[in-house]
Amino acid sequence: MASSGKGLEGVVAAETAVSDIDGQKGLLYYVGYDIHELAANATFEEVVYLLHHLELPTHAQLDSLREELSAGREPDELVMRLLPDLSENAPPMSMLRSAVSLSSVQDPDAGDMSPEANYRKAVRLMAVFPTLVAYYDRTRKGKELVQPDPSLSHAANFLWMLTGEKPDDDTERIFDLCLVLHADHTMNASTFAARVCAATLSDIHSAMTAAIAALKGPLHGGANEAVMAMLQEIGEPNKARDYIVNKLNNKEKVMGFGHRVYKTEDPRATHLRRTAEQLAEKSGDPTFYESSREIEKAVMDEKGIYPNVDFYAASVYGYLGIPTDLFTSIFACSRVSGWTAHVREQYADNRLIRPDHAYVGPEPRSWTPISER
Ligand code: CMC
Repeated sequence: MASSGKGLEGVVAAETAVSDIDGQKGLLYYVGYDIHELAANATFEEVVYLLHHLELPTHAQLDSLREELSAGREPDELVMRLLPDLSENAPPMSMLRSAVSLSSVQDPDAGDMSPEANYRKAVRLMAVFPTLVAYYDRTRKGKELVQPDPSLSHAANFLWMLTGEKPDDDTERIFDLCLVLHADHTMNASTFAARVCAATLSDIHSAMTAAIAALKGPLHGGANEAVMAMLQEIGEPNKARDYIVNKLNNKEKVMGFGHRVYKTEDPRATHLRRTAEQLAEKSGDPTFYESSREIEKAVMDEKGIYPNVDFYAASVYGYLGIPTDLFTSIFACSRVSGWTAHVREQYADNRLIRPDHAYVGPEPRSWTPISER
């Protein structure tokens, strides 16, 4: 009987050059670049290029990636036909899962598994995710769709399509930072799901559908929406400690805290905390931020657990005025860059991912006819 850690803890599932984490020191690298340096300097498009080409782009390379992304922003006709129904009936992550799955049908490279075709599909997927989220939100609100603007960055274009207003420089930079921070994170559950799917030599749209499905859960990307629900339930910062103590006494988890790999602060949380503080000051309503600080102190005092990326992301998105139920799909709009890079890496050196198991059922036994049961 094989044995393995529950939840595959500590198991190396794949070699990757895309990203790395030092959980003891709280370090995260994309292709060798420290996340702190990327947060200070990189745009999301530069990160996309880095994750897919394993080098930073030159001006010309970045320009052509921007053009490719702009060209892929419009969903195909089949998806557009379904969008009104999805907007009316499906929550955002279910819409995204279904729309991405459907978008495989009319993809011009459908059925072509060459590395070149998979790269083109990856770019189109990265381009179309934000449009799906923005179109979905506007459709369900009965608002006119805002067409993508090729002159805008990936971050600014999303906010433009979502709100119908061009963001100011600060807002664009903050949203871009969020995209940079969420772009990749080694063998997290959704990336692993994508790689497992790709390793059967299924297509990249199927792998993205699996990844979205895994991200949706509250123990993964769904945590950011759960954090906002908690902040709203708490209401006032001075009620946070009692709320947390009560929750922990009931053996409930506090969403946005804890991590399989980090044993210290998640470096992405450092940036998001700072950004939440800036936005709190700017908004004149510090409630989300102050409640978050109180929650953080209480969880640290009671359990010694640190916030993860989802904790302060909730406040940041809240201050940006983004509807709570879109938070996880926004995470997906960024993480699709890492997912597609991992899937291409998987195809390039593939072996079926098929773990072993530890059987805990009955010993072999004889069939009992139904009349004797
Ligand atoms: N609140 C309270 N206790 C916690 C929490 C939490 N958020 N996270 C871990 N613990 C405790 C847990 O109860 C256990 O304690 P004990 O040993 O006394 O039973 C111990 O810490 C180990 O927890 P675990 O659940 O076995 O750890 P894991 O590595 O299997 O799970 C996790 C990691 C992220 C799923 C977990 O920390 C969690 O459920 N956090 C809340 C959900 C969340 O914020 N998810 C986002 C994860 S990071 C970004 C992302 O991927 O989206």
